[in-house]
Amino acid sequence: MHIKDFAGKTAFVTGGASGIGLGIAKVLVERGARVVIADLRADHIENALAQFAGGTGSNAVSALQLDVTSRDAYAEAAAKMQADFGGIDILVNNAGVGLEGPILKATYADYDFGFGVNIGGVINGFVSFLPQMIAHGRGGHIVSTASLAAEVVMPPHLAIYAASKAAVCHYCEAVKPELAEQGIGVSILLPGPIKSNIHQAIQNRPEHLRAGSGFAESEQKLSERVVGDTWMEPEEVGEMVARGILENSTYIVTHGIFKDWQRARSQAVLDATPDVENSAVRGI
Ligand SMILES: NC(=O)c1ccc[n+]([C@@H]2O[C@H](COP(=O)([O-])OP(=O)(O)OC[C@H]3O[C@@H](n4cnc5c(N)ncnc54)[C@H](O)[C@@H]3O)[C@@H](O)[C@H]2O)c1
Repeated sequence: MHIKDFAGKTAFVTGGASGIGLGIAKVLVERGARVVIADLRADHIENALAQFAGGTGSNAVSALQLDVTSRDAYAEAAAKMQADFGGIDILVNNAGVGLEGPILKATYADYDFGFGVNIGGVINGFVSFLPQMIAHGRGGHIVSTASLAAEVVMPPHLAIYAASKAAVCHYCEAVKPELAEQGIGVSILLPGPIKSNIHQAIQNRPEHLRAGSGFAESEQKLSERVVGDTWMEPEEVGEMVARGILENSTYIVTHGIFKDWQRARSQAVLDATPDVENSAVRGI
């Protein structure tokens, strides 16, 4: 069964204490869901809970500190959701880090940080929560935040980010039919520029992946970036995500501003593709 409304549903939103995740959490609470915010940062959690305090939905929100790259901690969080709520109905794999830097300076610490959070965290969400979402038999939905960076050829310095987000996209596309058989819907959120704290990647990097990083200078520079006035409000993204869940949309795309780049990338792949007769010879 796909999600038909949010009343009485339990949603687990990673990276839910800031930016897009907080926007999604707010909209789901407004629509009657119980939301558990799971986030790495205690300061973000405190700030997020303060935003709900005193509001009509304040009882519907709780938070736990979780590093999505920790498989043990994720398994514990899932067990807690099972014990407290009889399992979750909606998983939002949204935690991510916006790392950037020149590829010739990248070290394994940078690869491990970017891929660890942006795709590893998503996989940990699927692996930790799918068993309970299937076992409780109520059906459900999983939204994972990729990026429009996954759909275009990105400018320099964003290779690790773009590759990690492309992995999220292709993974979700590929599992959707199998999970549909279990009553679990799958959506991929592809945001353009959204107001958030994504420039603070440096603060989300664990100590052991700071040592030896080649991106320290770029991350310092990124941390000084100013959030654009014209960027989209996270709550607007939250509304799009809520609609996408109800419609079981595969893609939830926030902006049309990169459409020409998206088209150019797809066209370049098609242009390099042999005619159909070739594949027929191979018996595909
Ligand atoms: N803001 C944009 O313009 C934009 C565009 C495209 C995609 N995205 C994606 O949207 C998602 C949300 O980012 P945002 O822009 O709202 O940034 P944000 O930094 O405001 O929010 C991300 C949250 O994730 C948390 N987080 C980081 N690492 C974590 C970890 N290991 N475990 C648990 N929580 C962790 C952070 O503490 C933060 O609260 C990310 O996946 C990001 O890549 C953002």
